[in-house]
Amino acid sequence: MEKMMRQEGKYPMRYDMAEWKEHRTLRGLACGPLTEEGERWYHLRQVLNKRMLKPAEAVLYADVINEVVSDLMVHLNNEREKSPSGVVVKDVANQLYRFALEGISSILFETRLGCLRKQIPAKTQDFINSIGRMFKNFVFVNALPKWTREVLPFWNRYLESWDTIFAFGQKLIDKRMEEITAQLKDGENPKGEYLTYLLSNEKLSIEEVSGSVAELLIAGVDTTSNTLAWTLYHLAKDNEIQNALFQEVMGVVPKGQIPTTEDVARMPLLKAVIKETLRLYPVVPINSRVAVNDVIIEGYHFPKGHSFEIERENHVDLAYLKHKERDSNYQFSLWEQVKKYSLSSLAAFLGLPTMESTMIFVSLRRELAELYP
Ligand code: HEM
Repeated sequence: MEKMMRQEGKYPMRYDMAEWKEHRTLRGLACGPLTEEGERWYHLRQVLNKRMLKPAEAVLYADVINEVVSDLMVHLNNEREKSPSGVVVKDVANQLYRFALEGISSILFETRLGCLRKQIPAKTQDFINSIGRMFKNFVFVNALPKWTREVLPFWNRYLESWDTIFAFGQKLIDKRMEEITAQLKDGENPKGEYLTYLLSNEKLSIEEVSGSVAELLIAGVDTTSNTLAWTLYHLAKDNEIQNALFQEVMGVVPKGQIPTTEDVARMPLLKAVIKETLRLYPVVPINSRVAVNDVIIEGYHFPKGHSFEIERENHVDLAYLKHKERDSNYQFSLWEQVKKYSLSSLAAFLGLPTMESTMIFVSLRRELAELYP
């Protein structure tokens, strides 16, 4: 894995997202970090990384996220009251999806979309539906031969869904751009979060901002909401850890106080729980890399252009769970073993370092065999 990733140098390549790119090309739109490649990808990432990757930069978004979390609490209480027993929240995964979309949009668009309101605004609901429709139709578009596009409805539905996603985002971006321009004209320094930074630093065109924000949103919502859903599922089954986590959180942030980013740093169990959730229920269980040069790994020669599929060894889903009893518990000590083994370079390469640093434990059979005696 390390060898394969070292050879890729400055411009790593995944399988190309052909159908996503086709939409951008057909509509004359710019690609974002998921679909762009090579030097242009690198340029995008240099701008997008700032104010997004470092934990210290999360401070910038603490207030807005706390506001969304407060709304989630009100929303969940309303949902409980609606249930016949007065305590059940139905369709937790969907509630968390709405929360993640609201939270990430509030940073990326600097606008509250109303996903946690009792009645979601019609335009926001259209946008949410379009994201779901795009993914649903993409499955067919990806699997079917191109000639079926003329005779089956999937391709057009797929394009239309993307169009709605982009149109919705573009409107919010244009609105913010107008405000920034007006503020600059009045000699004011535009204040804002991520979108203001992207629009006012002039390193990206407005089309590039639009393409990037759409892809950040698509990449960020399911990943975070499903990780939260699996965390709650796991904690519901493990009362001991649930209780320990509750005590930790209450110890750092007593009832009635709003947590700060520094508080989160004082919650090691919370961090461990999230890491273990990602190990047991990885939301991105498969990734890929394309060899940008010839590479020899363990004596095997892989020519330039060879595709590698990277799978998480510990992928557990509900159907699979009972066959994987050994792995179905949180094992916090594994992370100590990673440290003890001095696997720092392994961790870096397993963590797929292009965007996240928490994603350790990608499948590497030999190393994992060592970790599980
Ligand atoms: C539990 C949370 C998350 C997990 C497990 C996760 C996982 C991943 C993985 C495995 C990749 C592939 C990296 C590679 O190929 O090297 C990726 C890429 C990406 N993720 Fe995440 N992600 C999460 C949250 C987010 C969030 C919140 C955002 C944005 C707000 C985001 C935006 C992206 C983008 C834009 C890429 C493409 C990066 C590039 O190729 O330049 N992700 N993510």
